[in-house]
Amino acid sequence: MQLRIPGPTPCPDEVLRAQSKQKINHRGKEFGVLIRKVTEQLKRCFQTKGDVLILTGSGTGGLEAAVVNTLSPGDRVLCVSIGAFGDRFADIAKAYGADVKKLSFDWGFPADPDAVRQALKEDAAIKAVIVTHNETSTGVTNDIKSIAAAVKEFDKLILIDGVSSVSSIDLPVDDWQLDVVVTGSQKGWMTPPGLAMVSMNQKAWQAYEKSRMPKVYWDLGRARKIFDEKGQTPWTPAVSTLYALDVGLDLIEKEGLHNVFIRHARVARAARDGAKSLGLTLFAKESHASNTVTAINVPQGVDGKKLLQILREEHQVVLSGGQQKLEGKIFRIGHLGWVSEEDMTSVISALKQALPKAKA
Ligand SMILES: Cc1ncc(COP(=O)(O)O)c(C=O)c1O
Repeated sequence: MQLRIPGPTPCPDEVLRAQSKQKINHRGKEFGVLIRKVTEQLKRCFQTKGDVLILTGSGTGGLEAAVVNTLSPGDRVLCVSIGAFGDRFADIAKAYGADVKKLSFDWGFPADPDAVRQALKEDAAIKAVIVTHNETSTGVTNDIKSIAAAVKEFDKLILIDGVSSVSSIDLPVDDWQLDVVVTGSQKGWMTPPGLAMVSMNQKAWQAYEKSRMPKVYWDLGRARKIFDEKGQTPWTPAVSTLYALDVGLDLIEKEGLHNVFIRHARVARAARDGAKSLGLTLFAKESHASNTVTAINVPQGVDGKKLLQILREEHQVVLSGGQQKLEGKIFRIGHLGWVSEEDMTSVISALKQALPKAKA
């Protein structure tokens, strides 16, 4: 089966074997050694000397942690959205009582850093900017370097959803002064679902000290304290997923982080070129197309649902459809984590055979 959705992603055999190991005492010494090693490796992948906390939950839990640990009810927050996940991040901030000012862009397009700059110029009360690095629903990657530079001109906090990008697309957390960055184990990490990983720099910890949003399970200060003192997590962690992440990280480091970025760029190019070779059109312009997910327009006369069904049932290739307003209009190939150009060749070849049979 070719599971080519943008997460969960397939895992190498050694990762799956690690996941099936017998459990250990999460309050014991062995666990401390494991979580400290994994945390150091994560810091290298986030390219940060700040903290990275490992939480048991999915990426959305990590987004919620980013919000509740840095903000207070009533704080004015600029939520930049280019798709479904940007909307979700804004919804979380709203749910906890932030005063959300939305800056939305047409789906399929990236955020304009100058528009972010302008919004900050016009509204001095904004305390933080929330933005998605890689918008999985549209296959678009935002120019976070430029957006963060605009945000830092005003010395505001920036919270990044890097769920479908960290470890696959370059996101140097310290160089770009990204205060909080969130990712999830089931994306580029060649690891099953179960963990969210969140980086916090000094500015984020200063915001934490002042933050009054309610938090218990996602309290990152509590997570940092017990990690530093005991090499533990406040609550029972997903030990099996941590075993898997340990091996996934070894594989990333063996390949070399920058080589992993280059591989993702190559695989994404193969996906886009392959789609175009079949006469298909891409949903997003190639200049800002994602290296982890490719969104393709469902051609006229083709039933998108039927196409995915034929691919799944006759070719054992699993792709994703469009989300929300893009349902039936696009389909998406996920290519992150354990993926090669050959995998794209087989996806494109299956598409070639399935398309003529998927008439609307
Ligand atoms: C960009 C982005 N943000 C957030 C999420 C939510 O992550 P999860 O489904 O792990 O909660 C996803 C998952 O698809 C994502 O791609």
